[in-house]
Amino acid sequence: MERTLILLKPDAVQRRLIGSITSRFERKGLKVLAMKMMQISPELAAQHYDAHHGKPFYDGLVQFMTSGPVVALALEGNKAISVCRKLMGATFGCDAEAGTIRGDFGISDGFNLVHGSDSAETASRELELFFSPEEMIDYSLIDDSFNAAE
Ligand code: RTP
Ligand code: MG
Repeated sequence: MERTLILLKPDAVQRRLIGSITSRFERKGLKVLAMKMMQISPELAAQHYDAHHGKPFYDGLVQFMTSGPVVALALEGNKAISVCRKLMGATFGCDAEAGTIRGDFGISDGFNLVHGSDSAETASRELELFFSPEEMIDYSLIDDSFNAAE
């Protein structure tokens, strides 16, 4: 079982897509361990996107991520990190395949609706940035055995 951090970015909230995007992850079989709406501070955005510091798009990215509320989700599931990245699609909506979240809900090459951790290391680092251990609730779902690795 893996855990991953998903952020529904400010454009997803502004476009009233919280439910539609969250349902993509749920219906795939991922379990929601934590979920909260929050306003990201410039400091938290800088920590979260530390790997991109110094890149030409960095300042705009921090500005975008702090421009309005986001919804943070901690998700758990079999190969959750790569499964969520596949559900999200390529970075920008104009390139993302139809059937993916970014491919179905956007066409922009800047505003791309959703963030997902890209490795086990970044997932654990990012989950710690956004959630305290007590906020991530460990519980059972009745279909857990069908969604788990064998
Ligand atoms: P994310 O981290 O948000 O899940 O997106 P990603 O892995 O698909 O893409 P990444 O390369 O990590 O880039 C992080 C975010 O920076 C913005 N970006 N803009 N203008 C540009 O060339 C550019 N490249 C990246 C996007 O918001 C991207 O999601
Ligand atoms: Mg990334």
